[in-house]
Amino acid sequence: MVEPLLRVEQVSKRFGGLLALDRASLLAPAGRITALIGPNGAGKTTLFSIIAGFAPPSAGRIVYDGVDITGEPPHRLARRGIARTFQIVQPFTTLTVRENIAVGAHLSRPARADALAAAGDVARAVGLGDLLDRPAATLTVAGRKRLELARALAIEPRLLLLDEVLAGLNPSEIRDMVPIIRAIRDRGITIVMIEHVMQAVMSLAEHVLVLSEGRIIAEGPPQAIAGDPRVVEAYLGHGAAGRMLAAEPAMPEPILAVNGLRAGYGTTEILRGVDLTVRHGEIVAVLGANGAGKSTLNQRHLRRGPRLERRHPVCGCRDRARAAGGDRRARPHPGAGGPAHFPNMTVRENLDLGAYRRGRARREPNRSKVFSIFPRLAERQRQRAGTLSGGEQQMLAIGRGLMAEPKLLILDEPSLGLSPLLVEELFALIKRHQRGRTSPSCWSNRMWCKASRWPSAPISSTTACSC
Ligand SMILES: Nc1ncnc2c1ncn2[C@@H]1O[C@H](COP(=O)(O)OP(=O)(O)OP(=O)(O)O)[C@@H](O)[C@H]1O
Ligand SMILES: [Mg+2]
Repeated sequence: MVEPLLRVEQVSKRFGGLLALDRASLLAPAGRITALIGPNGAGKTTLFSIIAGFAPPSAGRIVYDGVDITGEPPHRLARRGIARTFQIVQPFTTLTVRENIAVGAHLSRPARADALAAAGDVARAVGLGDLLDRPAATLTVAGRKRLELARALAIEPRLLLLDEVLAGLNPSEIRDMVPIIRAIRDRGITIVMIEHVMQAVMSLAEHVLVLSEGRIIAEGPPQAIAGDPRVVEAYLGHGAAGRMLAAEPAMPEPILAVNGLRAGYGTTEILRGVDLTVRHGEIVAVLGANGAGKSTLNQRHLRRGPRLERRHPVCGCRDRARAAGGDRRARPHPGAGGPAHFPNMTVRENLDLGAYRRGRARREPNRSKVFSIFPRLAERQRQRAGTLSGGEQQMLAIGRGLMAEPKLLILDEPSLGLSPLLVEELFALIKRHQRGRTSPSCWSNRMWCKASRWPSAPISSTTACSC
């Protein structure tokens, strides 16, 4: 047995009445990759926050390199060689890639020139060498995730805590990132990674721990964990193959038609003649690499000509007019600049804001329906949205979209950050109600991704949007 660099002993964490961690223990052997998996809200990120000194445990202790470090502040732990990435990445958007990374390098290099030079080396190691002078704001999700990794590496850690660095990446980007993470391990850095991308866990981790409702329910080598009935029950779910929904043969009237759409930012053209039709009750998935323009298609940066029609043209409508007409976008996407919540308002208040323009009269029953789809939101309804786990924030974004009784629901990567089991449940819901009149449309990188819809809301005919 390799000597553990990190030893988490019986750690508990209480947030008021919620026991987020219940005597969780973990050993991370030096120079190895250990994975921590588990359902949304299981307590994974909370455990990272405690290890890295961002939150004190309610009980238990953390031993690092033979020293009890429980309760030490993050800057002292960074000097000891502990670095973490954040699940919801928030780079300094106005700084360049090089300057962002230099923030980490400054820990051991007070001189600016030294820190910037070191930042260049780290950037090249994670594949950002060509983007050093780009503002971080212009990076794609994949670029931001790499930047997050680079900033942590610039601290020159011995222990690296990776919180969902692969979330939101498409399959080829995941394939590119796996060898980068392996190369970091090969340099002798001990890694603990939280990840929902199971193929990466299987190919990278030597040991896997499964956290559910604050407790470690299983641990072992990846193959054994994948076949463990408790893990399948609590986290992975059955029937992955059933996710691919069969295409419906006959299609009713279009609810949305996009013809020859061109859009961009400044002089950069992103969309060059996109055609898309969404019919009543249909689920349309838009697939593509990060940076291909999927989210732009979701927005309103239209450069010329009336291209979007929904029985009557909606091109140029303001968002609120569209919302009044029945378009709802759930745009959670934590990886691309943070979820669009009001972090200091409660879950319930955020949901109610979804019914500000539409669905106000049926706000109560609709909120109950959202809670029945996402029982976790019901449990957390009085919690501030900013303190929700990454997956819970995703549920809130979808739930808020549903509060407006949408006729057309546009979801931007709805599966991002959700556990495999929850993704399966979400898509099972879609499958059951696919033939209703809400037409979900979905912008996603995942082949099996579909969109949610309002299961049993009162349905009215399409209304014209007043431009
Ligand atoms: N500051 C806080 N105050 C109250 N509750 C909190 C706070 N931080 C986290 N929680 C709750 O603790 C639970 C565990 O959250 P955590 O972020 O650790 O989950 P997670 O396992 O990382 O989930 P995900 O896979 O969705 O990211 C969640 O239910 C969350 O709502
Ligand atoms: Mg988390």
